[in-house]
Amino acid sequence: MFQLEAMLALLILAFLGTPTVLTQDYHGPEVGKHSCTSAPEGKNITSIRVFLKGRLIVGIQLNYDDNKDGQVYGSTAGKEMVARLSKEEHIIAAQGTYTPSALTQIIFTTNQPRQLMVGYYVGNSEYSSFPNDPSHVLKGACVSWRAGGIKSILFLWGSENSSCVKYGHSG
Ligand SMILES: *[C@@H]1O[C@H](CO)[C@@H](O)[C@H](O)[C@H]1NC(C)=O
Ligand SMILES: *[C@@H]1O[C@H](CO)[C@@H](O)[C@H](O)[C@H]1NC(C)=O
Repeated sequence: MFQLEAMLALLILAFLGTPTVLTQDYHGPEVGKHSCTSAPEGKNITSIRVFLKGRLIVGIQLNYDDNKDGQVYGSTAGKEMVARLSKEEHIIAAQGTYTPSALTQIIFTTNQPRQLMVGYYVGNSEYSSFPNDPSHVLKGACVSWRAGGIKSILFLWGSENSSCVKYGHSG
């Protein structure tokens, strides 16, 4: 279903003559407040925490230092789930689900390789995101959010040792 829709979207874009590489994708409805965060120079993502109310992700926090908490976007209500990275482990792809009300799941693929999951597989919309340059890793994210939930997420990619980030593409 999802793949068919994605293919149709690509076909339509191809007919319109626009590039078939989709960039700058927010996954989910891009409404509410927007905030972006990315790893400072010399730092890597150490963990990503989400806060859940029922099955909806209502808050998200990216951490770049084991001893210091990052800023929380959205709310800290409800249950917590954490994806924790080990040293020298980097995220190389992300995928998941969302509903019209909120983001519901993020599955991170790392270079170990292994998959780390936060949230639940609910909602009939699926997404996936990859860096355009396969040597790049996840360096940050932008989210749009309201009190009731993290509405959408855009992943930011960059080289391991740089603080410069780029948009990826959907797969
Ligand atoms: C960040 O990742 C790179 C590549 O794995 C590693 O060389 C570096 O030591 C890491 N930085 C920190 C602060 O852990
Ligand atoms: C990042 O820096 C570390 C340590 O200086 C180095 O070992 C590693 O190869 C670098 N990674 C990239 C992708 O340049």
